[in-house]
Amino acid sequence: MARIVLIPGDGIGAEVIPAARRVLEALTLPLEFVEAEAGWGCFTRRGDALPGDTLETCRGADAILFGATQSPMTKVEGYRSPILGLRRTFDLFANLRPAFDTARGIDLLVVRENTEGLYSGRERLEDDGATAIAERVITRRASQRIVRAACERAMARRKRLTIVHKANVLKETCGLFRAAALDVARDFPALHVEEMLVDTAAMRLVQEPGRFDVLVTTNLFGDILSDLAAGLTGGLGLAPSANLGAGRPAVFEPVHGSAPDIAGQGVADPRAAILSAALLLDWLDRSAEAAHVRRITLDTPHTGSTQGTTDQIITRLATLTLNPSPSGRGT
Ligand code: NAI
Ligand code: MG
Repeated sequence: MARIVLIPGDGIGAEVIPAARRVLEALTLPLEFVEAEAGWGCFTRRGDALPGDTLETCRGADAILFGATQSPMTKVEGYRSPILGLRRTFDLFANLRPAFDTARGIDLLVVRENTEGLYSGRERLEDDGATAIAERVITRRASQRIVRAACERAMARRKRLTIVHKANVLKETCGLFRAAALDVARDFPALHVEEMLVDTAAMRLVQEPGRFDVLVTTNLFGDILSDLAAGLTGGLGLAPSANLGAGRPAVFEPVHGSAPDIAGQGVADPRAAILSAALLLDWLDRSAEAAHVRRITLDTPHTGSTQGTTDQIITRLATLTLNPSPSGRGT
């Protein structure tokens, strides 16, 4: 029995996570669900956006399906982003963002380093506020482990790895990442490995997205390139993600936020959350079920109603046969 914690969070998180739960329940797998609170609503009620009891529940779980939380635009005393808290608590160093569009031959995966780089939080002001400085931290250890995770994924896919960096300008930080990446990739002789500067990668993703399989890169570059990839393939409504560490639990979440502009209307597209649930199934080694859910979800248009789209997906899940995926773990 796998234990799944559901954290709907704020806004449409509370609409799309129950939809994804219905899809998982329709598969009648040995999954046990527990709900937990986090987010801005939780903070206003309890003074903590990621309370200790939520973390305790997560600690005993195999996986977490996270909706979205709303973050204030300005600093609020005591508020910390729950997803960042989960990533830190469980050392979820790998952020996986697949993008697919079968009609256009796109099936790629961005593997983004999740713990350091320009998002290390080392920013300061100098010259009485006239100069702002950010430090970019790159370590060999974090670079090696993210590239190893990417190589393992590529081995289960089309065996192509693109190492993305800007070592021609950022000679120390990207230089260290590049050297560590090439070093780790040598342990995977079956992979076709290339390196690409990040600006070139952005252009080629737009021009020839079908040529890419797995891209691995540092935190900020990965953040931007994975949104670019999402934009190429149906946008936020179809963009899932996984946050993985060395052990359990892992966190799966749609890329989109709490969408306050449409929250409460029942119109949110549930497919990114359902595709995130498919990544969760992959991770639990339920790759046949994951592939089945993914194929049907990608083939089902969003009707404009969260419930209507979810109903259609569940109906198709029951009527179409489940074909074991020949390639094993899909993403
Ligand atoms: P957003 O992703 O919430 O919304 C951007 C636009 O896309 C909006 O017009 C929204 O209606 C639309 N949209 C997003 N998901 C959709 C869906 N499933 N179906 C239909 N339309 C959808 O990003 P935004 O507006 O920048 O941020 C809103 C709030 O979400 C902020 O408080 C932000 O901090 C938070 N956020 C949280 C994230 C997380 O929890 N991981 C990630 C991104 C933003
Ligand atoms: Mg982002």
